[in-house]
Amino acid sequence: MPLTIAELYASPPLGELLTLHGWVRTRRTTRAVSFVELQDGSTLKALQVVLPHDKIPRQRIEAELHTGASLAVQGRLKPTPDRPQPFELEAESYTLYGAADPETYPLQKKAHSLEFLREITHLRPRTRTFQAIFRIRSGLSFAIHQYFQSHGFVYVHTPILTPSDCEGAGQLFQVTTLPLLSVPKNERGEVAYEEDFFKRPAYLTVSGQLEGELLATALGKIYTFGPTFRAEPSHTPRHLAEFWMIEPEMAFYDLSMTMDLAEDFLKYLVREVMERFPEELEFLSERYEPALLSELRKAVEGDFLRLSYSEAIEILQKSGKNFQFPTEWGSDLQAEHERYLVEEYAQRPVIVYNYPKSIKAFYMRQNDDGQTVAAFDVLFPRIGEVIGGSQREERYDKLLQRMQELGMDLTPYQAYLDIRRYGTVPHSGFGLGLERLLLFLTGMTNVRDVIPFFRAAGQMG
Ligand code: 4AD
Ligand code: MG
Repeated sequence: MPLTIAELYASPPLGELLTLHGWVRTRRTTRAVSFVELQDGSTLKALQVVLPHDKIPRQRIEAELHTGASLAVQGRLKPTPDRPQPFELEAESYTLYGAADPETYPLQKKAHSLEFLREITHLRPRTRTFQAIFRIRSGLSFAIHQYFQSHGFVYVHTPILTPSDCEGAGQLFQVTTLPLLSVPKNERGEVAYEEDFFKRPAYLTVSGQLEGELLATALGKIYTFGPTFRAEPSHTPRHLAEFWMIEPEMAFYDLSMTMDLAEDFLKYLVREVMERFPEELEFLSERYEPALLSELRKAVEGDFLRLSYSEAIEILQKSGKNFQFPTEWGSDLQAEHERYLVEEYAQRPVIVYNYPKSIKAFYMRQNDDGQTVAAFDVLFPRIGEVIGGSQREERYDKLLQRMQELGMDLTPYQAYLDIRRYGTVPHSGFGLGLERLLLFLTGMTNVRDVIPFFRAAGQMG
């Protein structure tokens, strides 16, 4: 297996003849030697390669080794105690894999704006910024599995193609093989779905929760971790049309146990990332968000502040702030409200619970006051909502009544209702948006910058 730069830094085989592979980050040429900073994606650190012109002709180096070019280089590792880097590779020869024309290669030595890099998602992973972000994304995903696997949860794969709208928000991408130009209709003028692929309407899932509930009421504790899709027309830095969601669902958990789990889970994830990626975090903090490390530390140290929705509304009304959106009881919390609660009022993460039933999804458990449901959101600094969750309505009659009130077509929900007819149990769960949490962890401000290839309204980056 090819040796990586990360392995060199872990235990430098000084003096041995080695072959390293990578891409040129920068080159500097003097009279006698050229210096190439080589990167290979295994670490944020580069390898300094020294190419003596008496061994490798200067003209060849100047013609071939531009930023972005790829090569294999043979040489010996020499210690450099008086330099910033601990060692450098003294090259004896190299083989060019692929040139990168400096006239057209879009990444040059200067720092590029994130907006510009969004236009070249195929090349931005070559920058240190995106290497740091994607490495953190990978480690975070691993930590998520680690947490649940060590707490007795079963990882389940819920379907991506589904007949139902879990959140009832109508933000579905429809999936069909019917011809767009001549959609078959029945005698009442409706789409003839019996001629469609599934013989019924089908969509990309907005959440694995409904199927997750079916599995949790057999397996006890489950979690999903997969892509979800929302035809979200809004152009915001926090919404994607395709994003990754983690959804645990637990039988016999009530709302307060679920909030405890969410808090413990988030703190574990932040701690793991801080422990495994100090170099990446420091780099991102220096470049993008000076408060990053102190925010991360604050999130894992104290308790999250828990406020009922009614308390939160009162705090907002008394804040003396001139919010753009209303703060009447019954109105949904907007980003500006969430940020006030977290950044100014609590100065730490906040959990808001017991929301008005009218602004939440049909499946949430109705509280005895008749007005609210057992729902909660976890709010983080800079981001607002990272988690949305609830205790589920396990009482068949109450659930049916709510679905009828909302005028829902019950056809796709028969299995969901059945679970309440046979051995129903109290159960709860939540959904964590992977990209939202990554904004918090990396100091980025746009979800398009924490996923390799973004999909958002009007954009496929
Ligand atoms: O609050 P949401 O809509 O909740 C659900 O989907 C529930 N079914 C979850 C559950 O209880 N199992 O979404 C959950 C989280 C949000 O808190 C947010 O972090 C993220 O998913 N999210 C998005 N992330 C990026 N782009 C979008 N368009 C998102 N919509 C939600
Ligand atoms: Mg939500």
